[in-house]
Amino acid sequence: MKIVTLDGPSGSGKGTVGRLLARELNFNYLDSGLLYRAVAILVIENCIALSEVNNIEGIARNMNLEFSSENNKIFLDGIDVSNSIRTEEISIVSSKVAQLKSVRAILHEIQRGYLKGNGLIADGRDMGTVIFPDADLKIFITASPEARAYRRHKELLGRGESVSLRDLERSIASRDRSDSERKISPLVPAVDAIIIDTSNMTVEEVKDKIVKHYRAT
Ligand code: C5P
Repeated sequence: MKIVTLDGPSGSGKGTVGRLLARELNFNYLDSGLLYRAVAILVIENCIALSEVNNIEGIARNMNLEFSSENNKIFLDGIDVSNSIRTEEISIVSSKVAQLKSVRAILHEIQRGYLKGNGLIADGRDMGTVIFPDADLKIFITASPEARAYRRHKELLGRGESVSLRDLERSIASRDRSDSERKISPLVPAVDAIIIDTSNMTVEEVKDKIVKHYRAT
């Protein structure tokens, strides 16, 4: 089965490109950030402190995250979280949850479970380095911090969440730092990854470029 990994920082455009790629190649799609976000929702809802690692492990092991490809809805333990899972509050807490080694190990197994069908587009931070080190094609997509904050701002506004661009730039810079500097599975390109800077590219251009690389594998 073919595997294409798509790693990169927040706002690099991975999600949009990943979905388009999955559709074009008729592959399964894993948005691994959603798993960390789902744990974050349950941590907040159950008033669990980040130091209560055992409880967080229990949450990660027992949560049930489902996707409806018909209407793009996301259900967590049967509840529609399609909007709440993408808020800034959840972005920040998910990045903290992502620093817990044992939680990452539990989610590792869940992520491997997405390997089915014709192939997989795996989107995240450590897809090419840790989860699917033998992938057929590894892409690391990035963009300038300004471009990423601008895209995220547009996305949040579109969903009715008003956050100032400056606050977002700060939040993205802080998440970049903690994602890149953490000891376990830091955000770094795999040695064999192709790096694409999407600052001045449209989503279609990025998708077409990756498809070309894929066809050449
Ligand atoms: O990709 P997204 O912004 O939805 O991910 C939310 C957070 O989850 C990231 O900031 C990162 O800390 C964490 N994450 C991770 N490893 C992944 C995917 C996401 O650590 N493979």
